[in-house]
Amino acid sequence: MDRKYFQICLLAIVFVGTIIVIIVCFEAKYGIREKVVESPFWQTSVVYQVYPRSFYDGQPDETGDITGITSKVDYLLELGVGAVWLSPVYTSPMKDFGYDVANFTEIDPIFGSMADFDDLVTTLHRKGLKLVMDFVPNHSSDQHEWFQRSVRCEDPYTDFYIWANSSGVDANGTQIPPNNWLSVFRGSAWEWNDERQQFYFHQFLPEQPDLNYRNHLVREEMKKVLTFWLKKGVDGFRIDAIKHLFEVEDLSQNEPVATHSGVQDPDDYDYLNHTYTVDQPETLTVVREWRQLLNQYPDRVMMVEVYNDDIDAVMKYYGNETVPLADFPFNFFLIDNLQSRGDLTGESLRYTIDLWLDNMPEGKWPNWVTGNHDNGRVASRLGRDLVDALNMLTLLLPGTPVTYYGEELGMENTFISWDETKDPEGCRWGPDLYQEHSRDPERTPMQWDNCTNAGFTTANSTWLPVNPNYKVLNVKAQTQAETSHLKIYKELAVLRRADTFSKGHIAFPVVTKEIFSFLRYLEGSEKYLLVINTSEEELEVNLHRHANLPLPSSAVVVLRSVTDTSEKTHPGSEVPLDKVPLVGGEGLLLNLQAED
Ligand code: GLC
Repeated sequence: MDRKYFQICLLAIVFVGTIIVIIVCFEAKYGIREKVVESPFWQTSVVYQVYPRSFYDGQPDETGDITGITSKVDYLLELGVGAVWLSPVYTSPMKDFGYDVANFTEIDPIFGSMADFDDLVTTLHRKGLKLVMDFVPNHSSDQHEWFQRSVRCEDPYTDFYIWANSSGVDANGTQIPPNNWLSVFRGSAWEWNDERQQFYFHQFLPEQPDLNYRNHLVREEMKKVLTFWLKKGVDGFRIDAIKHLFEVEDLSQNEPVATHSGVQDPDDYDYLNHTYTVDQPETLTVVREWRQLLNQYPDRVMMVEVYNDDIDAVMKYYGNETVPLADFPFNFFLIDNLQSRGDLTGESLRYTIDLWLDNMPEGKWPNWVTGNHDNGRVASRLGRDLVDALNMLTLLLPGTPVTYYGEELGMENTFISWDETKDPEGCRWGPDLYQEHSRDPERTPMQWDNCTNAGFTTANSTWLPVNPNYKVLNVKAQTQAETSHLKIYKELAVLRRADTFSKGHIAFPVVTKEIFSFLRYLEGSEKYLLVINTSEEELEVNLHRHANLPLPSSAVVVLRSVTDTSEKTHPGSEVPLDKVPLVGGEGLLLNLQAED
């Protein structure tokens, strides 16, 4: 090779190499790469749960539907949420209002058509919002073709469900189930099928037979279902009742009585310890398969429903850095630990928040849930006065908040008489006890305005009664009012996008019985302090006296609960931190300006 040519090549290599080294150093110092790699949508978005029967009735027939949701996308956009989790809209006999799926890849006519669904996805995406589907893998409806064919022992469906022989016949000639396992909705989890002359297992209603995940064909079919929706462009899944996916193989084992639960009723699910029917190790293997499937598509989320007092059992669903599973299991501890106002103190809030943050596996992302379609409304459980404070808490903590529709307005539980009760769980407890168990009160129609039926439908009636408070508690009124829960929620949704909240650190400067607080801070960014008065009394708090870290002498009010109308805490006012006035249940967000 010509020597001159060789020298030119060498020079060129040295030149390109130098440029690469400069770029790499520059990136390392100024973090250019950080700006290029965006956070996944589910880390930056508020997830908003829409219960489709109750959101908006676009094709007026008493029940909400998909076109109704599409017509309210602008509301969601203005609210500032980033993703919609849609409770099931699949074909269903509605025994459990859509959680009994008769066809996993079709839309139930009550909600509209597949074209309506596609239109919803397109509309959401066009406006920059995401759609997360509810995926119900543990069971199908008894009307699903797979179950019908399983009853008839038609292959390959014969073993698609959990079938077992009877243990004998009692004195009345009734078949005796294979073991003592109970349904979450009370009573035996076994149902006798005359045609097949066997029992089948159902962790929920008899109309919701459990699928058999030990059968690899079931696993393949369910992966096809996920793929179907992923190809349609949905942005991920909320996975229903995941902990129930597997049971032990040996069906002769009875579950032990939960001697410390205090439950005496042998039909109550809590009467037993569910050692053989929930959180079996095989479940995580299937979650892993689904994770790998979702990973083939960019930016998809997997959120899983796991209720368990045992934090370690819940955390397993995150997986770890080498074997990632769900993006997050829902954090239900703000619901489970804080059932009523008496449970809510500064200390219990701190404990509950730490419980998640301290136990979460390295590198994982937290989430905060205060309500959903299975739990009472925040205002009714904990108090109307706390609505804003708890929205401040969930939207400003590090992690993803999940908001149930109507919580931005402070919607309340609706009284439903026994005759009007629809929820199967409520119905199975009977007229004396249904109110403790029915989920109807938190599922009533969204309150849009003060017109008939709260503006939810133009039909003459609604599938569940509208809460009579709709005349004053509705979107329109809260949009027009000078201050409202809705306005606070919208401000929070904007605020949480600031670096301090999306990337900043957290500290808990003052936590007492009455007071809960957290500080969000980040070098070079604004510092915020949220103070919550968990008591029902008006207080003047000296934050300095209790603080475990230095606080400035005063701070500027950014946001306060609607219940506080004092001049002293008007947004923009400066409040001395040794005399912070708070009304009962108030949340006060302060901007801590740096002191020289
Ligand atoms: C989940 C759902 C609940 C449903 C149950 C059975 O817990 O959230 O509404 O009844 O699963 O599918």
